[in-house]
Amino acid sequence: MANRSVKYSNHYTDLSRKELAQVMEQTLSKRRYKHVMRVEKTALYLAEKYNVDKEKVSIAAIAHDYAKERSDEEMMDLIISENQDLEMLQFGSNIWHGPIGAVLLRNEFNIADDEILEAIKYHTIGAPKMSQVAQIIYIADFIEPNRSFKGVDKARKLSEVSLAETLAFISKHTLENLIKRNMKVYPKSIETYNAWAVSYKEENNDPFVY
Ligand SMILES: [Fe+2]
Ligand SMILES: [Fe+2]
Repeated sequence: MANRSVKYSNHYTDLSRKELAQVMEQTLSKRRYKHVMRVEKTALYLAEKYNVDKEKVSIAAIAHDYAKERSDEEMMDLIISENQDLEMLQFGSNIWHGPIGAVLLRNEFNIADDEILEAIKYHTIGAPKMSQVAQIIYIADFIEPNRSFKGVDKARKLSEVSLAETLAFISKHTLENLIKRNMKVYPKSIETYNAWAVSYKEENNDPFVY
């Protein structure tokens, strides 16, 4: 299996892949641990396909939901003490756990690589500029095999063709979904949509891409 072939160099973390996975197994619920391992498998498939650094992709995938099950109080305290975007306080853990996860992994495991930390930070919200590592984590989190919501098959098909096109699709789908349910939209999600979905449409000269 593809994920068995990733051996960590100790360049980005002192932990081996097995040790990093064990940290997540001990920290997260069984259900979420299984999710992060499926995200890793999907992400490594995309890394192979698009020739992206597999070690970085594996670390970011396994660690991406590290903060997801922390208490609201702990995350809110960290948003303030770690000088994160205070506007996040108007939202919930769905928005917080990416940026806070990146902070915790830097503080607790000395992970310092910008691409890995940004991939974790942006995995839910996205950003106008994302490395290919970050693009892959954002996409893999959306399309991992247990996801079954509307639009996921389209995203899976697009991911065989283009990371940018898949990101464009997911950023639009996420925004549409929030709006349909009358949910508040974190402004940075709109920036992601503007950067990826709108510019993709313009670049392809097609007003009805999706
Ligand atoms: Fe997440
Ligand atoms: Fe996730």
